[in-house]
Amino acid sequence: MLCTKCNRSFSLTEKIWKCPCGGLLDLEVQSTFPIEKIEARKPNLWRYREALPVAKEECIISFEEGFTPLVPVELDGRSVWIKQDHLFPTGSYKDRGASVLMSKVKELGISRVVEDSSGNAGCAIAAYSAKGRIQSEIYVPDSTSPGKLAQIEAYGAVLKKIPGSREDTARAVWDAAQKDYYASHSWNPFFFQGTKTWAFEVWEQLGWKAPDTILLPVGNGTLLLGAFIGFGELLEAGMIREIPRMIGVQSVHCAPLARAFREGLKEIPKIQPQETLAEGIAIAEPVRGKQIVEAVKKSGGSFLSVQEEEVKRALRLTGRMGFYVEPTAAAAVAGVLQYLKSSDPEETIVSVFTGHGLKATEKILKILGESAKH
Ligand SMILES: Cc1ncc(COP(=O)(O)O)c(C=O)c1O
Ligand SMILES: [Zn+2]
Repeated sequence: MLCTKCNRSFSLTEKIWKCPCGGLLDLEVQSTFPIEKIEARKPNLWRYREALPVAKEECIISFEEGFTPLVPVELDGRSVWIKQDHLFPTGSYKDRGASVLMSKVKELGISRVVEDSSGNAGCAIAAYSAKGRIQSEIYVPDSTSPGKLAQIEAYGAVLKKIPGSREDTARAVWDAAQKDYYASHSWNPFFFQGTKTWAFEVWEQLGWKAPDTILLPVGNGTLLLGAFIGFGELLEAGMIREIPRMIGVQSVHCAPLARAFREGLKEIPKIQPQETLAEGIAIAEPVRGKQIVEAVKKSGGSFLSVQEEEVKRALRLTGRMGFYVEPTAAAAVAGVLQYLKSSDPEETIVSVFTGHGLKATEKILKILGESAKH
């Protein structure tokens, strides 16, 4: 592990999630991709075994998750590949990060973790903690969708509902994280070692090829940075020629990264977030904000921001095609619809359904109720 601030390096066996200097830690893994071995393994994310930094097989905590279907979906007359990550065991792609991070936690011999989340990462950490017999304490904003709250409690985690904004929740967990291991999806570098498998699966499912463009919803950027790491490792290993163009999708109501990119800012600006249906990407102060903007730039990509009305339209549209996703996932679809207006008709585009609709029943009922009135 390498500190992004002071360059100090640490062994993978140290029980730390940030540098003593306060800096974010990054991980560099020399991944290999032995295709014949990969193909012979079960269809789950652990098939990319040589790329996942958990040494002890017996410490792996897995529900055989991953290798989600990559299906063509017709949007505004164009065929776009959509990865069905709402079909994970806990109903969101966060299981990718949780499986690898919690396996590492097990390997390190840690018996208790804390995590804060807008809901889905908390669900995933709670479920994998339950499977691995590790105690977990999950901090969430008290406005989180009830479906996610119930799920966290059902897994036996201690649920801490924090009044106020998502940032208030992040501040509340900080004290707890000074004594217990912080299984954070934004700070902990092992989480990204799991989300990078999204890139490997897309590459394999497209016939061992990278797409031209990917569009992903971005709050803390765990999927976007994971995809960047994953495609970066494939490039390094000579498996692909280029990292796909990465387009980050934010909500107009909370778009600090889109603004930093658009205005060429060196720092992520302080913004006044407004409430949004896309609760999963309502992150006003993303811990890895600068890294995310940098990754998007390096890939030759950009950011898009979507209005609430576009999220609602995308949610209704996907539902009518038989896909039931939560509003945050619909925000990415809204981003795809925007992007298609000016895209090259020949390019291969991949996006994702990040979270299941059953997690956000109240919000979806409201959206459907509004459309019934029109
Ligand atoms: C359904 C869903 N989609 C997308 C995201 C965005 O992920 P990130 O904040 O890591 O960018 C989240 C985060 O909670 C989510 O729950
Ligand atoms: Zn440091």
